[in-house]
Amino acid sequence: MTILAGQLEAACIAAFEAEGLEARWGAVKQSDRPELADFQCNGCMGAAKSAGMNPRELAAKIAPRLAEHAAIDRVDIAGPGFLNIVVTAEALAGAAEHVRSDAKAGGGQAVEAETVVIDFGGPNVAKPMHVGHLRSAVIGDTLVRLLRFLGDQVTGDVHLGDWGLQMGLLIVAVEEEQPDLPYFDAGNEGPFPSEPPVTMEDLSRLYPMASGRSKEDAAYLEKAQNAVAQMQAGRAGYRALLQHFIDVSVAALKVDYGFLDVSFDLWKGESDVDPLIAPMVEDLKDRGLARLDEGAWIIDIARENENVPTVGKDGQERLKNPMPPLMLVNSRGGTGYHATDLATILDRKQEINPDRILYVVDQRQATHFEQVYRASDKAGYVPHERLEHLGFGTVNGKDGKPFKTREGGTLRLADLNAMALEEATKKIGDAGLSGEIGAEEKSEIGRLVARAALRFADLQNQRTTNYVFDLERFTSFEGKTGPYLLYAAVRMKALLRRAGEEGHAPGAIRIENEAERKLALVLDGFALSLRLAREKRMPHYVCEHVYTLAQAFSAFYAASPILKDGVAAEVRASRLGLVEAVLKQLEAGLGILGITAPERM
Ligand code: ARG
Repeated sequence: MTILAGQLEAACIAAFEAEGLEARWGAVKQSDRPELADFQCNGCMGAAKSAGMNPRELAAKIAPRLAEHAAIDRVDIAGPGFLNIVVTAEALAGAAEHVRSDAKAGGGQAVEAETVVIDFGGPNVAKPMHVGHLRSAVIGDTLVRLLRFLGDQVTGDVHLGDWGLQMGLLIVAVEEEQPDLPYFDAGNEGPFPSEPPVTMEDLSRLYPMASGRSKEDAAYLEKAQNAVAQMQAGRAGYRALLQHFIDVSVAALKVDYGFLDVSFDLWKGESDVDPLIAPMVEDLKDRGLARLDEGAWIIDIARENENVPTVGKDGQERLKNPMPPLMLVNSRGGTGYHATDLATILDRKQEINPDRILYVVDQRQATHFEQVYRASDKAGYVPHERLEHLGFGTVNGKDGKPFKTREGGTLRLADLNAMALEEATKKIGDAGLSGEIGAEEKSEIGRLVARAALRFADLQNQRTTNYVFDLERFTSFEGKTGPYLLYAAVRMKALLRRAGEEGHAPGAIRIENEAERKLALVLDGFALSLRLAREKRMPHYVCEHVYTLAQAFSAFYAASPILKDGVAAEVRASRLGLVEAVLKQLEAGLGILGITAPERM
C-alpha cells in the first residue's frame, strides 16, 4: 500500500465501520484505471453480499462519508459498486513534500525488522568467476542494501568455495612446478613463508590445466583427492598453501566485486567451519540422526509422501524418492559441500543468531539447499522455514543456452566487466555527452555507466527467470536500462545546478497540471515497491519503480517549463521543489540497486 493509500484506507475503514461493517472491506489500492481515478476501494461488493445489501446502495452511503476526508477530492461509484477515489492537489503536494523532507525519500520502514544473514557471491577460490556469480553478487548485494534501508540488521557473507577438489588440484599442480617448496614436506609443521608462492595469474593458469588433466588421468585425480583429504585432516603445509590460495584469490575477487560496487561484511569460506565439523558429526551420530551407508555417513531427509513412480531399466515401475540423503562424511572420510553448508548454519547460529538466512544461489542448486535445510531442521539447528534459498535463472546467449564466450568457454567476471567498460565508454563518446569533461572524470563516468548497465540489466528481470546477455542493449541510453536512469538523474542535477546559478531556489510544491499529478502519485508508490521487493526478495520491483519515476519525470519535464522566461516565480519554485523530491527518491532507489549517478556526463 502506498502512503496515500494508507491514509485513504483509514478513511474507508472508518466509513465501513460507521455503517456497522467490518474494517477489512476498507482496503484501498492504486487505481487500475488511472485515467478515471487515483485510488480505488472494492469493498462494497463483498460487504454488501455478507450483509445482504445492494452493493451500489451501500456504495452510495460510503461515498459521502469519504468525501468529507481532507485528502479526498471526489469519490465516484462505478460498475457494481467500485469506489473510485480522486485525491486533492494538496494531498499530492503533501506526498511530494514528504519525499523531499524524509530521510528515506518516502521509502518507509520494515514492519517487523529482522536479523538476517545473506549468503551470496559464493565464488570458488582459484576458479574464475562466471556470469552466474555475477547474478548472485548483484542480487545479493541489492538485497543487503534493500533490507538495511528498511531497518533490518544484515550481515552479508561471501561464503568462499575453498574446501573442495579444486584445492587439491592446485596443491598437486604447484608441487609439480615447485617441488622444493617447504609446503610439500609432510613432516614440516611450519612456520611457513608469509609471501605466497603463486600469483593470481599462476592460479588462473594452473587450475584449468590441473582440472583438465584430472579428467583424463585417473592417477592425477587420485593424487588431488588425496591432497584434499590430507588438507582436510590438517596437514600443516597444505593448510598454509590453502591460506595463500585464499589470500591471492580474495585480492583479485575484491577488484572484480569493487567494479560492481558489491561488498561483503564477512569474507568467510567453507574452510572456516572445519573446526565445527568433527563435533557436529559426532553429535549427529550420537543422536542417531546420521547413519552409516556403504562406508559413508549420511542423513536421511526424504519424506515418504514425496515418492514418485519411476520406470526402471527393467521396465518395472517403482516408487522413488527425489530427495537423496545428505552426505555428511564420504567413504574416504572427507567432507564436502553438504557438510560445510550444514556446519555453516551452526556457525552463523553461534556467531550471529539470525532470524533468517537467505542464500542467493543459482536455481540449479535447489536440491542441495533443500537437503541441507531439512537436515538442519531435523538436527534442530535452524528451522527449515527460516532458511530461504533465493534461486535465480541463468544468463543466456542469444541462442537461448547458458552464455559462453566466442571460444566456447565460460565468461570470466573480470572480462565481462572489461567488456562492459569498453562498451559504456564507446556509448558515452557516441552520445557526445562528454564535451568538456576531462579524461579522468570521463573514465570514472565510464565505470559508473558500465556498472549501472550490468546491475540494472540483471536486477530488472524477475529473479527466477533467465535473461539474454546483450551488452549493446544494456549500455544503451534509451529504453529500460541503467544508463537511461543515470541520464535522467544527471539531467535533474544539471537542472537544479542551473537554477541555482540563475538565482532560483526550490520552494513549496503545488500540484497543478496532469503531469505533476502523475509524478506525485508515482513518488507516493516508493514505499510500496520496497515493501514488495523485501517481502518477495525480488529486486525488480525497485527497478520498476525507478524506471516509472524517470518516465513520469520526463513527461513532467516536457509539459512543465521551469527555467524558461515567463514562468511565474512560485510555479518555478514549486517545480524545482518537485525536481528535488524526484531526484532524492531516484537516487535513493538507485542506491538500493547499487547504482550511483555521476554529477554530470
Ligand atoms: N561456491 C558455490 C558455487 O560456486 C556457491 C556457494 C553458495 N553458498 C552456499 N552456502 N552454498 O556454486
